[in-house]
Order: sequence, then C-alpha cells, then structure tokens
Amino acid sequence: RRSIELALNVADTGTTVLIQGESGTGKELLANLIHFNSGREDKPYIKINCGAIPETLLESELFGHEKGSFTDARSQRIGRFEEADGGTLFLDEIGEMSMQAQVRLLRVLQDGEITRVGGTAVIKSDVRVIAASNVDLDQAVDDGTFRKDLYYRLSVFPINLPPLRERLEDIHLLVFHFLDRYKEKTGRFVSGISKEALRALVNYGWPGNVRELENAIERAVIIASGRQIELDDLPQAISKSAFEANALVRQERARAAGEGRSVGIEIELPSTMDEIERHVIEATLDYVDGDKTRASRLLNIARKTLYRKLEQFEAK
Ligand SMILES: Nc1ncnc2c1ncn2[C@@H]1O[C@H](COP(=O)(O)OP(=O)(O)OP(=O)(O)O)[C@@H](O)[C@H]1O
Ligand SMILES: [Mg+2]
Repeated sequence: RRSIELALNVADTGTTVLIQGESGTGKELLANLIHFNSGREDKPYIKINCGAIPETLLESELFGHEKGSFTDARSQRIGRFEEADGGTLFLDEIGEMSMQAQVRLLRVLQDGEITRVGGTAVIKSDVRVIAASNVDLDQAVDDGTFRKDLYYRLSVFPINLPPLRERLEDIHLLVFHFLDRYKEKTGRFVSGISKEALRALVNYGWPGNVRELENAIERAVIIASGRQIELDDLPQAISKSAFEANALVRQERARAAGEGRSVGIEIELPSTMDEIERHVIEATLDYVDGDKTRASRLLNIARKTLYRKLEQFEAK
C-alpha cells in the first residue's frame, strides 16, 4: 500500500524512479501505474528488459547507432530513448546493464542528451526513466558491477517492494482478490477456501512472490471447481510444507505426553465451538498417540461419545 502511495505521489513529476524488489513482487505493475498517472500517458511507453538483450546489442538498442558504427550496422538506427521521447522508458533488470551502457545512461539522466553509438551529434531527450531491479544494486555497487554515480542518480526516488512473506496481511487480501478474478475469468464456481488452505497460504515462504500466489490460486480455482478450495488443491510445494509443519506439531504433542509434560494448542479466531471441539479432540488424540480410551479419559467424556464425534468429523 505504501509503495502505491509513493508511486502515485511521484507519478506526475518526471522524476527518475528506481523500483527494487524480488522477482514477482509487482515492479512492472508499479511502473505501469506510474506511467499511466504521469501526464505522459498519451506519449510512448517503452519497456526494455536489459537482461534479455545481449550485452553487445543493448547500447545500440537503447541509444541507436550510426551507419557503419560496428560490423553489422548497415544502416542508421533510432534507439529506444529516441522512440520514447516525451514519454516513459521502463528499464527492467537494470542491474544487468554493461558498464559502458551505464556511462551513456548516466549522461542521459544528467544532461538529457543522447549520442548514438558511433555518432557525434547530440540529441536532446525528454524521457522519464523508471528502472527496476531484483538484484540489490547497493550490493552490486560494492561488488563493482554497477556504477556508484549511476546508482545515486537512479535512487533519487527509490521504491522498495517487500517480498510477500513480509506482507502477511497482503497475502490474505490478494488471495481473495485473485479468487474473484479467476472465478470470473474461468467461469468456474468456487464456494471459498478452507481455513487450513488459507493458513497454508499465509505461512508459505513465497519465493516467487505475487506471481507465484496468483498462479497457485488460478490452478486451485480450476481444480476445486464446484466446491471450496482445500489444502490438497494447492501446489505441492505449499501443501507439502503445511503437512510437514503439521506433522512436527503432532510429533511434539506425542513427545510431550511421553515426557509427562502438558502442551498448548493454538486456537484461531474466529472459530466456532464445533471447530474448537474438533481441534481439541484431534490434538488430544495426537497427545495419547491415538489411544482412544486414554483420550476419552483425559477429555472426561464417554468412549462412545468420542467415537460418535469422530464419526461426525469423518462425515464432514
Ligand atoms: N499488488 C498486486 N495486485 C495484483 N496483482 C499483482 C500485484 N503485484 C503483482 N501482481 C501480479 O503479479 C505478477 C508479477 O508482477 P510483476 O510482473 O509486476 O513482477 P516483477 O516484480 O516485475 O517480477 P520480475 O522481477 O520477475 O520481473 C503480475 O501478474 C502482476 O499482475
Ligand atoms: Mg518484471
């Protein structure tokens, strides 16, 4: 939320923006937001992925070249900076840019001037630059792969997108946002998501951030078509880590009993009495390692009552 606020504040200023964040955190989405609120939205918006273009070609791609400037340069070519004149240039994965290209870029940012590769003519340029990186540029400067002066020039207005695992409250919002979107998009009906599945989504580490979450929900909506989303409908990496965490908790209960200790359980709010009862019964069974006679004694209920409740749980 804070990042969006920052982005909207800076959008109409023409200031260079540097967006940093792990893969899938929404850097491109934020860049779009800035461009489309910049007052330049009717002008060109050009995106270029510095990591996807061979190092030798990147410079001419960005700044253009004159005829004969290098072996393959049979004709003159307009660079992306010239193309984007008056508009916005989004430089994705800027950390991949060669040192030489970095020098040229610094010059554009500082003086608003470009020269084509192999050329001498100075061309005036009015381009709003938004740069993005998923490598830590500060670190890259220390490693000597990124120019310090360019880094300072780019970070006039830095926006850091935190990884999803540090934005637990956003996970929740995004799950429901993507649920709605993919229900609509796929035309499938899904009645909701189980507490267990939701908990697994919140607890997962999300190395692929929002993109990974979006894919997980899209897939789950298709699988769960006609009912609610269960833990099993989530990608294996997620359900597996939830099952493992669960197994650890259950082992700890049995171990505590073996050592004569009592152990706490976590009850989440909101919960119904039925849910709480089920949770306590299941945890007690873990504690006594499945011994139903002992469990009913500890719970101080009749064995028959315990069996009946377990049957009810099975049925659900
Ligand atoms: N806050 C958000 N709300 C809705 N969708 C989002 C949000 N953030 C990211 N997304 C979605 O997540 C996906 C990844 O976002 P984006 O392409 O902007 O990430 P990125 O940071 O550029 O990743 P990479 O570094 O891998 O290029 C996109 O499909 C985007 O629509
Ligand atoms: Mg991207």
